[in-house]
Amino acid sequence: MAGKFTAPKIRALKGRQKIAVLTAYDTSMAKVMDDAGIPMILVGDSLGMTVLGYESTLPVRLEEMLHHARAVVRGVTSAMVIGDMPFMTYHASTADAVRNAGRFLQEAGVDGVKIEGGASRADTIRTLIENGIPVLGHIGLLPQSVRATGGYRIRGKTEEDVERLLADAKAVEEAGVFAMVLEGMPSDVAAKITAGVSIPTIGIGAGPSCDGQVLVVNDMLGFTEKPPRFVKRYADMGEQMKKAFAQYRAEVEGGEYPAREHEY
Ligand code: KIV
Repeated sequence: MAGKFTAPKIRALKGRQKIAVLTAYDTSMAKVMDDAGIPMILVGDSLGMTVLGYESTLPVRLEEMLHHARAVVRGVTSAMVIGDMPFMTYHASTADAVRNAGRFLQEAGVDGVKIEGGASRADTIRTLIENGIPVLGHIGLLPQSVRATGGYRIRGKTEEDVERLLADAKAVEEAGVFAMVLEGMPSDVAAKITAGVSIPTIGIGAGPSCDGQVLVVNDMLGFTEKPPRFVKRYADMGEQMKKAFAQYRAEVEGGEYPAREHEY
């Protein structure tokens, strides 16, 4: 592996190599991803649903994100690790955003942060970057705005909304993001955005034309009962773990475990 992935290295992959991104929330999972050559790992605020049992990402607090980001960073040597700025950590003021993003880098050791939002977040993104904090943009369907939008709604279904998304993409590009997530939009819209910006686009539910893809690890490993349609299950770990737990229970109850060879 040729050294650590950084914002400039990820940015330089546009047009040369598709970028496979995954979320992670703990050391052991992050280590396996790093060993598999995943170049960028997102400590997503999807943590709220995948690990903490919340109904949405809104209750996730910065302290929870820092705790899990530290664990991920400890498992990684090559991948770029991105901390997802949770709801209300960058909304009230730019000073808040700088302070909270700074904590991600200083206290958790991540390599950059992700911010949801387009043109309306451009000034915040610019200030973070001026302060030496690499930013991954995130436009399209914005889970932190689910209360305002009334649900997880696909974007870009009207010409007016497509224009808004194109303007958002330009705004975050001009603000200096090294790459941007495109979430929940028709593939032709994502293709248009991808062709119109000089930085990599990382799609989730945005079709095959993006410069990379990101999946929530629990979805792709088969832990999520009803994952979104765009998810491909690369393994059925939920089922395999259930089998292992049931076998363990049966063997403990039946006195088969531990056997002689398992004694210290
Ligand atoms: O929180 C998350 O996991 C994310 C990705 C789905 C992009 O924001």
